[in-house]
Amino acid sequence: MMNLAHRGASEYAPENTLAAFYKGLEMGASGLETDLRLSRDGIVFLLHDERLERTTNGTGRASEYTWKELQELDAGSWFAAAYAGERLVSLETFLHFFARKPIHLALEMKEEGLEEDTLRLLAKYGISNRVTITSFQQGILRMVRRLDSAVRIGFLVKQYTEEILAELKEISAQQICLTAETITKDGVNRLKAAGLEVRAWRVRDEALMHHCLECGVDGMTINFPDKLTEALRRVL
Ligand code: G3P
Ligand code: CA
Repeated sequence: MMNLAHRGASEYAPENTLAAFYKGLEMGASGLETDLRLSRDGIVFLLHDERLERTTNGTGRASEYTWKELQELDAGSWFAAAYAGERLVSLETFLHFFARKPIHLALEMKEEGLEEDTLRLLAKYGISNRVTITSFQQGILRMVRRLDSAVRIGFLVKQYTEEILAELKEISAQQICLTAETITKDGVNRLKAAGLEVRAWRVRDEALMHHCLECGVDGMTINFPDKLTEALRRVL
């Protein structure tokens, strides 16, 4: 069961910062989820939104800034004064700190154009088998599969349809990522019988977390990995 700290332990620390990732691991997460974007000068880095306002003291589209400029931003104060000075993190730095740990990494590609560099970095750190590349965008996943026939792929969707299952087969995806509220036990069984891993996302509260566990999902991204760790401990 993959307990993936969603943008790190984002309930307790500013999302997609080293503080949030380390907190997730302290809370027993077995993996980390994060979002990939591209700076103006082509550096792959971690940010959820297209724009900077919500999670940094910057303004505008992140893609209009060089990595040097992005590194100057404060990515922690918006969350709490105690996190002032947290910085945006490049994929290379993220891998430097976390690739050698025995954990799973779920890397969500938020935009086109970073597929090749991301795969190159994964190869450099030799961790392709402990990574799942995910995206809401089919085109990105198709490109990833063209570039790498082995890397694990997860398709992020709201709920599954026959077309989505056909697409998953087409790109030899290992995983389907469904919104927690659409998950049912029958659905999970059917998807598993089709050879897919089922991972939940948007697990808003503990009730949904328990629902997903009862339905037998293979993992979930969660803002409060401590609560999932505790629930799993009780089951075992
Ligand atoms: O776990 C998948 C989830 O991260 C997708 O949604 O908005 O958090 O990127 P979002
Ligand atoms: Ca994400």
